[in-house]
Amino acid sequence: MDTATLNYEPMVFNPRQGDEAPLTAIQQEVLELKQSRNAIILAHNYQVDAIQRVADYVGDSLGLAYRAEEAQADCIVFCGVHFMAETAKIVNPDKPVLLPDMDAGCSLSDSCPAEKLAAYKEANPEVYVVAYINCSAGVKALSDVICTSGNAMKIVERVPEDRPILFVPDQNLGQWVSKQTGRPMRLWPGSCYAHVLFTQQSIERLKLKFPEALVVAHPECVETVRDNADEVCSTEKMVGFCRESTAQQFIVVTETGMIHRLQREVPEKTFIAGPTDTCACNECRFMKMNTIEKLRDCLKDMTPQIEMPEELRRKAYLPIKRMLEWSK
Ligand code: 13P
Ligand code: SF4
Repeated sequence: MDTATLNYEPMVFNPRQGDEAPLTAIQQEVLELKQSRNAIILAHNYQVDAIQRVADYVGDSLGLAYRAEEAQADCIVFCGVHFMAETAKIVNPDKPVLLPDMDAGCSLSDSCPAEKLAAYKEANPEVYVVAYINCSAGVKALSDVICTSGNAMKIVERVPEDRPILFVPDQNLGQWVSKQTGRPMRLWPGSCYAHVLFTQQSIERLKLKFPEALVVAHPECVETVRDNADEVCSTEKMVGFCRESTAQQFIVVTETGMIHRLQREVPEKTFIAGPTDTCACNECRFMKMNTIEKLRDCLKDMTPQIEMPEELRRKAYLPIKRMLEWSK
């Protein structure tokens, strides 16, 4: 097969030459508002570059949860999706937590409604529920421990041996962790709509054009993609892997926003967006709902804010607290 069979132009990010462009007027406005509100801006690795550049911290779900817990500012602005901002509120309830677009949800989180999990637990009271952090506060409140893609192995290894594990909501991450740890698990049939679009065939075709490139994939990808990747890890670990590897080119099999962070921190290397069968890149439509304008407006108006009943928050905090302790 030759590269003529690619039905898209590969999205290649070559080594960065020179400084980044100066901040725009709206980015300056965000920084001024941030100062006057004494706010901290936390942003996920998938956010648009304009937001990443004004954030105090850019990272994966685990790093963001720790930063939210220890935040000293008067207000937290969370640029990510709803479950991430909700987690920030759960661990830091006395501060307002702003999310630039309240509709920024997550298909994976939606695939496990709390009522369905409650019914499963009632019928199977013996299970120990390990919940991937990509779930609602209602699901967290029904779980024994939370994990992220950055600490899932460590967390699962601490689960009492005599308890059968139910892993929710991502069957792909769960399958990967089960294989790595040798621990059998019941898997909730959920998945991320964006990560399951990457296929082994689409990556193989791209590799014909970039034979030297290493493939780094997120564990939310399907098994054939994971099994053929050079590295499978959380978005944060991708930065360290690409920095420390002797390779110069990487095919990044996750949401394309990740490449902004990689380019900033590993500017001397080349990154190629992981393709789907029909497209050169793959964006999460929820992550991209936040824009620099919405970030400015939420800081100006102090809305929209995450709210939740205190009883729910307290119940959801316990498995997060366990995770934060177990993964230190
Ligand atoms: P990370 O925790 O690796 O950043 O992943 C979060 C996520 O939503 C992946 O789709
Ligand atoms: Fe959810 Fe997938 Fe978007 Fe991550 S990439 S926030 S799992 S929909």
